[in-house]
Parts: sequence; structure tokens; C-alpha cells
Amino acid sequence: MKPDTLNESDYRVTELADLSRRNSFRVPARAQWLIEVGDAGALPEVFGLGAVRRSPLLVLGEGSNVLLTRDWPGAVLSIVARGIRILDARGDNTRVRVEAGENWNDFVHWSLGQGFAGLENLALIPGSVGAAPIQNIGAYGVEVREFIETVEAFDRRTGQVVRLDNAACGFAYRDSLFKRDADRYLVCAVEFLLPRRRELRLDYAGMREELAAMKIDTPNHATVAEAVMRLRTRKLPNPAQIGNAGSFFKNPLVSAAQADTLRSANPALPVWPGDDGQCKLSAAWLVEACGFKGVREGDAGVSERHALVLVNHGAATGAQLWALAQRIIEAVYVRFEVRLEPEPRIA
Ligand code: FAD
Ligand code: EPU
Repeated sequence: MKPDTLNESDYRVTELADLSRRNSFRVPARAQWLIEVGDAGALPEVFGLGAVRRSPLLVLGEGSNVLLTRDWPGAVLSIVARGIRILDARGDNTRVRVEAGENWNDFVHWSLGQGFAGLENLALIPGSVGAAPIQNIGAYGVEVREFIETVEAFDRRTGQVVRLDNAACGFAYRDSLFKRDADRYLVCAVEFLLPRRRELRLDYAGMREELAAMKIDTPNHATVAEAVMRLRTRKLPNPAQIGNAGSFFKNPLVSAAQADTLRSANPALPVWPGDDGQCKLSAAWLVEACGFKGVREGDAGVSERHALVLVNHGAATGAQLWALAQRIIEAVYVRFEVRLEPEPRIA
């Protein structure tokens, strides 16, 4: 492949591409080839390229949930197709198709502007629409799986475009079929079912207090989005100011028996109900209890604002951040016998 070649309007190949501005940790890394696909119809041709077929593949959206620990030795593929289209009505809901390259927060605000309800709690989550199903993004008591009807994806194994319904996507907390079988499916578009009316979800800690501070007595979908944005801006460091990928660890799911034992020894540990009768523990609390909140090792550190957020103070490499993450995993395991799992893709 030639450097910086615009092969067709459908896809563009850049050789030895700089990824440092394409990951929210802002760590340095290069890709042997970066392939930006503007039309999913070009994917069979892209996967027909010998270099792509033979080399390791990494799918990249906006890079807000990846930790690049090295130069990527193969192709990094990004679907940049954009577009939001209202398809039809299904009962009280409207079907809306969004191409993978749309920005998630832009779509949330589009939906609210059109008078749709439900996505307000998911405002200001960074990243692309195509990445939203991968870990079933969630915040403030809502997960995106509640609104996804169909995911349209290119299956590398068969070379075909498939349409997976909600059940086939296997969504769970910060998980899906796509995450479990990484890089098999390239999400090309997501079709949502959006209601016009939906009860507000205000039970997440801090929501009602935030609305009260805003002097909102009768909240609506727009003011809830505003409250969520205010909370997020206060709690989480802004990647534009300090490199990070949001929560670095998932909140661990453990059995009710293990949660009870941990709670008896640590009464302040927050525990919430998880999927399938499991209990979800606060990873932030576990990390803070092990003394890591605000630590700094060179330019790799843990945010002073939130114990779950690893930060790049400037010149940290992905490998240094990953080494710090592993020390945290080890320390939490030694003290609590709970093994934290990273949330971002470690590449
Ligand atoms: P990337 O980081 O580029 O990729 C993430 C994963 O998805 C990778 O495994 C990648 O291979 C895969 N992928 C991306 N696009 C595609 C595609 N089209 N097809 C197949 N695979 C693909 N997440 C939450 O759930 N809730 C939050 O509240 C939240 N808050 C955050 C706050 C901050 C400040 C930051 C930096 C991140 C936060 N995140 C949160 C994580 C992140 O926003 C989401 O995971 C988001 O969906 C990532 O989108 P992206 O386009 O940047 O994906
Ligand atoms: N806490 C601490 N120390 C801290 C921060 C929090 O002990 O430094 C404890 C507090 O007890 C607090 C509790 O943890 O009440 C929960 O904190 P928070 O409300 O910030 O939520 P979280 O569990 O840390 C999760 C998601 C976030 C999402 C928020 C809001 C995961 C891994 N993280 O964080 O998602 O925005 O809830 O719903 O589930 C992300 O995935 O990148 C992300 C930011």
C-alpha cells in the first residue's frame, strides 16, 4: 500500500499513521496502516487487500476506550461513515438508523432536539455510535441496550454484512458479543427504537441533588441531560485537558456470598445489584482503599478526582500506564481477593 493514498472515495489508507491524537489517553503510537472507511460497502474490498488479511487488525472509533501500549504492527481500521435517518414507527417507538462514525453525544442531542426521550442519562459519553454497542455504554442508571433494536455489522469470518437483533448482541454490563469476540464484527450502523415518552430515571446517586441545585422542580428530558452533564464535568477529568479513558476498571461482579463477606469486613464498600443475581462492587472504592487515588509514577497516574480514572500527565506511554494498572490490580487482589478487569481495550 502506498503512503497516504486516497484509493477511492470509499476508503483512505495512510501508512505509518500517527495515532497519538486518535486516543484519549494521548499516548504515542503509530499504525502500520490506518484505513478510514467512509462507506461500509467498501469493506469486502478492504479485507481483500493482502496486507489487511495477513496482519493483526484493530478497529478504532474515536479512541476514548483504548490503551495503546505499542505501535500497532498491522491495520487499524476506522469506520467514519456518518448519517442519522428516521426509518419508521414501531408502535409508540420510532426506528432511527445511525451510521457508525457519528459522534455519540451529537446523536444524544439530536434525539432530544427531535423530541425523543430516554438517551438523556447517556449525554456526554465520549466516542462514536459504532462503539456504543461494543461495551453497551451506560451511565446514571441507563444502558444503551435499552434502545438498540438492531446492529448492522460486517462479519470478518464470513465476509458478509449481518443484522443482529438485540438478543443476538448478548448485551450485559460493559459487555456484548462484539467485545467477547473482538474484531470479528465491524459495526457499520446501529438502529435504535426511541420513545416519545419515557419515565425519567432519577435514582442514581446525586441526580436529584443536582436538579435541586439547578432549581429544577419539574425535570424533563432536557434538564436531566443538563444535570448529567454537570455531574460528569465535575466528577471526571476532561480528556482534552488530561489524557484518560474514563473508568479504567469495570465494577467487579461477585456472588452475593462474597459481597456479604466483603461488606462485613468493609461496611463502607458500595455494593449494587448486578446482572443474574450477582452483586456489583465499586471498583473506585477498592482502588482508593488501596491508596492509589491521586498517585503519580512519572507521568502515569490515578486521577485525584476519581480513583477509577488513570491519567496521562503528559508524556506517559501506554506501557507505563498499563504497568501502573497491573500494580493496582495486584494490590486490590492481595487485599480483597477481587480481580479487577480493565474496561478499555488494551492494544
Ligand atoms: P474506541 O475507544 O475507539 O474503541 C472502543 C472499543 O470498541 C475497541 O475495542 C474498538 O475495537 C471497538 N470499536 C470501536 N468502533 C467499532 C466499530 N465500529 N465496530 C467494531 N468495534 C468497534 N463509557 C461508558 O460506558 N460510560 C461512561 O460513562 C463513560 N464515560 C467516559 C468518560 C470519559 C472521560 C472517557 C474518556 C470515556 C468514557 N467511557 C464511558 C468510555 C467510552 O466513552 C466508550 O467506551 C465509547 O463507546 C468509546 O467510543 P470510541 O468511538 O471512542 O471507541
Ligand atoms: N468512589 C470512591 N472513590 C472515588 C470515586 C468514587 O470511593 O474516587 C465510590 C463512591 O462511593 C461513589 C461510587 O464509588 O458513590 C460510585 O462512583 P461513581 O458514581 O462515580 O460511579 P462509578 O461506579 O465509579 C460508573 C461507570 C462510569 C459512569 C458512572 C455513572 C463503570 C466502570 N463506570 O462509575 O462509566 O459514568 O458510573 O453512571 O461502570 C466509564 O465506563 O468509562 C465510565 C466513566
